[in-house]
Amino acid sequence: MKVLGIAGSPRRGGNTDTLLAEVMRGATSKGAEVKTIILNNQKITPCQHCDACLEKGECRIKDDMQTIYQEFEQADIIVLASPIQFTGVTAQMKTMIDRFQSRWVRKYVLKAPPLSNGQKKKGFFISVGSRKVTDLFEPALVMIKTVFRILDVAYAGELLFSGIDEKGAVAKHPDALNQAFLAGQKLAAESLGKNFTFIQ
Ligand SMILES: Cc1cc2nc3c(=O)[nH]c(=O)nc-3n(C[C@H](O)[C@H](O)[C@H](O)COP(=O)(O)O)c2cc1C
Repeated sequence: MKVLGIAGSPRRGGNTDTLLAEVMRGATSKGAEVKTIILNNQKITPCQHCDACLEKGECRIKDDMQTIYQEFEQADIIVLASPIQFTGVTAQMKTMIDRFQSRWVRKYVLKAPPLSNGQKKKGFFISVGSRKVTDLFEPALVMIKTVFRILDVAYAGELLFSGIDEKGAVAKHPDALNQAFLAGQKLAAESLGKNFTFIQ
């Protein structure tokens, strides 16, 4: 059982990093092998819409995204973590997501599995934002569910906390870290391939 965490915040040790670390700790406690990639440390060029991927579903840009494609292929569970910035995910997360255009091509143009082995995967989303409004996470959720759907990753849930701003704020929340740990345990403990519904 491999769990891949994608840390989308530019701020190390910040709120989404903290929640992601707890999810991974929970998954580890159930025997999962975990790996976290810090997007801010990766060199990922934004999609150039060159359409080179239309031929074979491969992106012609050879940068750190090539490793991320491999990690997505190998993972059983993918956890995307991003704070809300200007009502959406961070630029780091959006840049990565856009580079999955080659996988969109694989699925919808070439009629092939978007991730090569076709193995069933689960996806989870972690986010925080400073504002306290009911629809704070809606735009980000639409995007995250869309990328998981395109990659044939079954959406397994989310952890969302509003009113969280300064570095360390989430650790002061009465229950957030516990919820994150339990979510990681649940993700890893649930058997793969059962009761999956794809969000359409
Ligand atoms: C550039 C930028 C834009 C932001 N935009 C929003 C926003 O639109 N809505 C919101 O609720 N919080 C916004 N925030 C606040 C962050 O979501 C908040 O500080 C969060 O706790 C940061 O999480 P992190 O520590 O994981 O980076 C923004 C922060 C930055 C730096």
